[in-house]
Amino acid sequence: MLPLFVERMDQSFNFEKEPLADVNPRNTIKPDILMKQKLVILSGAGISQESGLKTFRDMGGIWDTYQVEEVASPDAWKRNPELVLRFYNERRKAFWEALPNAAHITLASLEERFDVEIITQNVDDLHEQAGSKKVLHLHGELRKARSTADPSIIYTLQSPELNLGDLCELGSQLRPHIVWFGEPVPNIVKAQKIMEKADILVVIGTSLVVYPAAGLVHFAPEGIPVFVIDPGSPSVMRPGVVYIQKKASEGVNDLVEKLVQYLQGSNQKE
Ligand code: OAD
Repeated sequence: MLPLFVERMDQSFNFEKEPLADVNPRNTIKPDILMKQKLVILSGAGISQESGLKTFRDMGGIWDTYQVEEVASPDAWKRNPELVLRFYNERRKAFWEALPNAAHITLASLEERFDVEIITQNVDDLHEQAGSKKVLHLHGELRKARSTADPSIIYTLQSPELNLGDLCELGSQLRPHIVWFGEPVPNIVKAQKIMEKADILVVIGTSLVVYPAAGLVHFAPEGIPVFVIDPGSPSVMRPGVVYIQKKASEGVNDLVEKLVQYLQGSNQKE
């Protein structure tokens, strides 16, 4: 299994982006009108920015203050577990009080019309708090801790602090339930399978530089509508991508408009 790694920025391609355009529904319409289309969402730190949580790579982002390899790698844990725990305690304290924003809530409401599956790189649980039912976490969950002796022993934390001396039932130190750089991503195969079934793909609030998550977009079937919501300019190297260059809370409104057009187009074809 490929470990977590970051693509070098200078390796990313920059395809000409298409303006916001009408979306052509896929030729194959689901035959059973009662069968909802599968809408797959790949989300990243940007969707939680308006909930007050910092992103990683924007100016003033988390990796401006910390070196990844000092706080988010197995080596860091060996060298200085206290610093690693402090780093995640800070993250946890910030997210403990955070609430879902309009973007999380709108995406949750799409479940009325679509079979929505969210694949998130985020370690917060704001999608779940907003009411999304199918959320797969690729990079772990901040609210959880796990045993360093047996990774299958996982606890839900009752407070935002995890410290040296907090032990599992086997007597071993607990660590954050986070995928660190250089570690395998246990949910990646599940995520690829979800992508393969997508009828529509939405990518929101991610710079798409961390792999294998960023490569997931290539598992979605060819020809499906793909929407990218981000005020920056992440590139999705697929034809026919619709870029909505806005913050998440505004961008989801454009998305809803486009999805309404898509559904109307689907109905006309039946
Ligand atoms: P990044 O910080 O790399 O990218 C955040 C993206 O969100 C950028 O493309 C921004 O333009 C965009 N953004 C900023 N504000 C936004 C807003 N209000 N609405 C919508 N988009 C906004 O975060 P990720 O791509 O999630 O991994 O980073 C991927 C992984 O790298 C993270 O899961 C984390 C990090 O290192 C680990 O720590 C394991």
